[in-house]
Amino acid sequence: MTDRYAVIGNPIAHSKSPQIHAVFARQTFQDMRYEALLAPLDGFAQSVRAFAAAGGRGLNVTVPFKLEAHALADTRSPRAEAAKAVNTLLFSAAGIHGDNTDGVGLVADLTRNLGVQLAGKRLLLLGAGGAARGVLLPLLEQRPAALFLANRTADKARALGDEFAARAGACRIESGGFAALAGRQFDLVINATAAGLSDAAPSLPDGLYAPGSLAYDMVYGRETPFLAAARAKGAARCADGLGMLVEQAAESFFLWRGVRPPTAPVLDQLRGA
Ligand code: ATR
Repeated sequence: MTDRYAVIGNPIAHSKSPQIHAVFARQTFQDMRYEALLAPLDGFAQSVRAFAAAGGRGLNVTVPFKLEAHALADTRSPRAEAAKAVNTLLFSAAGIHGDNTDGVGLVADLTRNLGVQLAGKRLLLLGAGGAARGVLLPLLEQRPAALFLANRTADKARALGDEFAARAGACRIESGGFAALAGRQFDLVINATAAGLSDAAPSLPDGLYAPGSLAYDMVYGRETPFLAAARAKGAARCADGLGMLVEQAAESFFLWRGVRPPTAPVLDQLRGA
């Protein structure tokens, strides 16, 4: 019988995940089907259980259900615990297992697709909400020299920095508001704020971008205000989050199927579309 998977969210019609996983399945000869599942805002757990009861093997979880998925899972990976959010569910006789592949997806895009090694580098992560939290542990595991957590509301950045301090190893974690960035330089600046959703960019001091630096927006699909500002302020390279989307999908696919799909073809296909 063909194994069933889906991405669950609300809204869901715009999701690129069915297209991505269809390509992965074809490339790796997996007998599986991957759908888009719209769950009512007050009916996430019910929808998940109904999908599992109907023979579903696993789900990707997107906005606004990642926290509920974390709560619903019977067991969770360490990276899902650190993220306090789940984007991948696996069903088995033992119950529902929750994982989070967003952070490893970002790291894979940075290191494999963009050729940026993070060890020894100075990183700036903008934002202190769920998106920032979700990628922190995998970023720290790459052993950057320093990581600055900056947020419009400085206290939220400080709280997040304190929470992850014990896992930083030799990496120096600092945190604060955007004004605290004055006079600093970074090799990599990652935008994990929701500013782009209202067509705004975080208001950052000049001079942040070190020679050869990369500006990365976790949002994808267009030139965001953050990337436009980064280009104007001297970032040597800019990237949107499309590669992260494809790499987190590949990581989920690997968890479900035990096979690592090639990601370049589908990324080319999406960029061409
Ligand atoms: P997500 O899950 O996408 O991270 P969230 O938890 O609501 O969403 O967090 C939104 C993040 O975007 C926060 O860091 C928020 O900053 P505040 O903590 O100060 O609210 C940030 N953000 C939203 N709009 C912003 C803007 N216009 N400029 C800068 N930061 C913004």
